[in-house]
Amino acid sequence: MTSLKWLVHHLPDFFPYSFGRAVLRLFHLHLTRVILAFAMSTSTLSSRFFSLFVSLALLSSVSAIPWPSTSKHATHRRRNIGGREVESFHPESTFKTFGSTGRSFAVNQQLFDVSIEGLAIAFFGSRGFDTSGIKYRSGYSAGEFQYAYLKQSANGIDFANAVANVVFKGDKVVSFGSSFVNFSSVRIPSATPSINLKDVLPKIQSEFNATKPDGSEPALEYLVQSNGSVVLAYVVQLRNSLIGAAFEVFVDAISGVVLSITDFVAHASYTVVPIDKASFADGLQTVTNPQDTQASPSGWHTINNKATTTTAGNNVVAFTLRNGTRDFQESPILTFMAKYDAAASPNTTDNTNAARANAFYVANRVHDIAYRYGFTEKAFNFQHDNFGKGGKGNDSVDVIVHDPSGLNNAYFSVPPDGEPGTCHMFIWTKSLPNRDGSMDNGILIHEMAHGITGRMTGGGTARCLQTTESGGLGEGWSDTFAGWMEQSSRETKDITIGSYVYNRTRGLRRFPYSVNTTTNPLRYSDLKKLTEVHYIGEVWANMLHNVYASLVQQFDYSSDRFTNPDSPAGNVVFLRLFIDSLAIQPCNPTFVQARNAWIQADVNRYGGKHRCTVFKAFASRGLGAKAGPQFDDDGTIPPDCS
Ligand SMILES: *[C@@H]1O[C@H](CO)[C@@H](O)[C@H](O)[C@H]1NC(C)=O
Ligand SMILES: *[C@@H]1O[C@H](CO)[C@@H](O)[C@H](O)[C@H]1NC(C)=O
Ligand SMILES: *[C@@H]1O[C@H](CO)[C@@H](O)[C@H](O)[C@H]1NC(C)=O
Ligand SMILES: *[C@@H]1O[C@H](CO)[C@@H](O)[C@H](O)[C@H]1NC(C)=O
Ligand SMILES: *[C@@H]1O[C@H](CO)[C@@H](O)[C@H](O)[C@H]1NC(C)=O
Ligand SMILES: *[C@@H]1O[C@H](CO)[C@@H](O)[C@H](O)[C@H]1NC(C)=O
Ligand SMILES: *[C@@H]1O[C@H](CO)[C@@H](O)[C@H](O)[C@H]1NC(C)=O
Ligand SMILES: *[C@@H]1O[C@H](CO)[C@@H](O)[C@H](O)[C@H]1NC(C)=O
Ligand SMILES: [Zn+2]
Repeated sequence: MTSLKWLVHHLPDFFPYSFGRAVLRLFHLHLTRVILAFAMSTSTLSSRFFSLFVSLALLSSVSAIPWPSTSKHATHRRRNIGGREVESFHPESTFKTFGSTGRSFAVNQQLFDVSIEGLAIAFFGSRGFDTSGIKYRSGYSAGEFQYAYLKQSANGIDFANAVANVVFKGDKVVSFGSSFVNFSSVRIPSATPSINLKDVLPKIQSEFNATKPDGSEPALEYLVQSNGSVVLAYVVQLRNSLIGAAFEVFVDAISGVVLSITDFVAHASYTVVPIDKASFADGLQTVTNPQDTQASPSGWHTINNKATTTTAGNNVVAFTLRNGTRDFQESPILTFMAKYDAAASPNTTDNTNAARANAFYVANRVHDIAYRYGFTEKAFNFQHDNFGKGGKGNDSVDVIVHDPSGLNNAYFSVPPDGEPGTCHMFIWTKSLPNRDGSMDNGILIHEMAHGITGRMTGGGTARCLQTTESGGLGEGWSDTFAGWMEQSSRETKDITIGSYVYNRTRGLRRFPYSVNTTTNPLRYSDLKKLTEVHYIGEVWANMLHNVYASLVQQFDYSSDRFTNPDSPAGNVVFLRLFIDSLAIQPCNPTFVQARNAWIQADVNRYGGKHRCTVFKAFASRGLGAKAGPQFDDDGTIPPDCS
């Protein structure tokens, strides 16, 4: 009991995905003991505690089987994947709510403290369900609420679609939902399949034009069908990233027939600052399905092949902290469409939801775009599941929106490949009401770019941008990447970073990034006077701004830049060289080495086609061919370029 209390009070309320399984397993071991303790102590419980379950059990009735065929849209979905049509069935759930105060009962305080899962299982037991067939799946607490999610199981086989959930507020039940089946009125088939999956899989794969990804293991689960019968089924993951398909099929383990499907590619909507706009000041738009399934084959709302209904997925987990625990916006239909009210404080419910949605959207777009340009699994990117494509997984990016640990800033911590990155987004107090860093895309993209440069320089160790000069390059790349997103036409515009959060036209930096030497006079020789990485970064970012403008001027601009890295357009070539050079340059590069990496990247990818354009632009700001480590300006361009 002591150890259980320790677990309950010392584990984070939200289980981080990377060790959630292990923790839950640990929980289960202890849970068994709790249930036993619970069962043994019921006789000594006060009658008031016992009445909790009795009175609740009378509140609603379990829906009858089979489910009514008249409400098909609530229970069925017809899909066409790769040319094969299939209709899935999802049992109707009972759902009972008890208002804002919840249903009042007396609870044995000591037992309540012990375990949410013990209580949740006992609750459904009191409603007539066989508790030996109920498993605690997951749960967490947020503020005053505790959420538990359960599933049924028989003969050691889990049910795919017989699930339940219950919410407690303090000592009251606030609501519960259930699609549990009644074991005494349904025949549970044997747990032994009679066909071999590999005999039928080739046909199924070709019907759906998709294949089983390496490393995914088929499972056996019970599936409740629309006529109420229960079938033993193989569950197989299938993918075809070229057509954006990511799903699982349920194959009858007796007949080999495809019974149902779960589509992981969620259709989601977000009200956000579009990725090619600087901040909230440019207005919000509602975007639908912005995920790039080539970069994110199971979409943005899937973790370990399980769909999520929050701002949490394989690439990015965005949340605020409430009393130290992760607080997500929940949307079962994936519509994250809160309107941001600029006249209100950032921490209202709507504004918090809008900020989480925007941070989630921007961080995922950065993942998807950088992926297309080469920041992939094997190039040490940030993903929980690497789909067997190399690199280390278990490292999505945690974005802490409204991080209470600071104000007027943001930062990104980049650990080695295989450990999650963390993006800390703060509130800014430069204006009233305060402004939210998570509504400023430039700030978000700047931070996410630190993850790209920190991982790709030096091969995923995150140890290779540690010197002052390379740290300055890091700041420069981050501003540059943010600026690249905003360039939405052939006319290269000047770029500022943080104008919105700082409520200042020039934003956080001393000068806008510009090709105009009056607007931005920074040159290589300015490094002689600079010791702070952001100031150093301004010099690098402005050189790159000039490289960008020259490339676009000579090689044109392409608006399909987010998805077509093979375009010959100057703006696309620029990001290619940006990403390629990271992988080429040495650990802790200098300005000269970083420039040389751009030149080499161009040789590697384009046979040196853009070499002179790039060299001339660097030379125009003092980083010419003869520039040395003393930061003396040099305007030399290679002889064959003049
Ligand atoms: C099957 O997948 C290929 C790519 O793998 C795609 O080109 C083709 O259009 C798909 N066929 C159908 C019917 O979706
Ligand atoms: C399950 O079915 C049995 C027999 O039909 C019935 O007595 C019992 O009340 C049912 N339990 C639930 C939870 O509906
Ligand atoms: C915050 O956590 C503390 C300690 O766990 C708890 O006493 C307090 O009630 C919590 N407050 C809220 C608002 O959840
Ligand atoms: C339910 O439907 C399946 C076919 O989908 C059939 O094989 C089975 O016999 C039916 N069960 C009942 C109880 O009607
Ligand atoms: C919301 O932010 C304001 C300051 O902007 C602060 O005074 C207030 O306490 C915050 N409210 C909550 C619930 O955090
Ligand atoms: C993630 O972590 C688990 C447990 O530590 C490990 O078994 C698994 O191989 C890791 N996945 C990847 C892709 O590295
Ligand atoms: C932004 O700054 C301007 C002055 O530069 C000031 O007039 C305005 O009130 C500020 N806006 C907010 C929301 O604080
Ligand atoms: C550069 O900017 C200054 C003002 O910042 C402006 O007067 C000048 O005309 C600009 N030069 C060019 C070539 O556009
Ligand atoms: Zn930075």
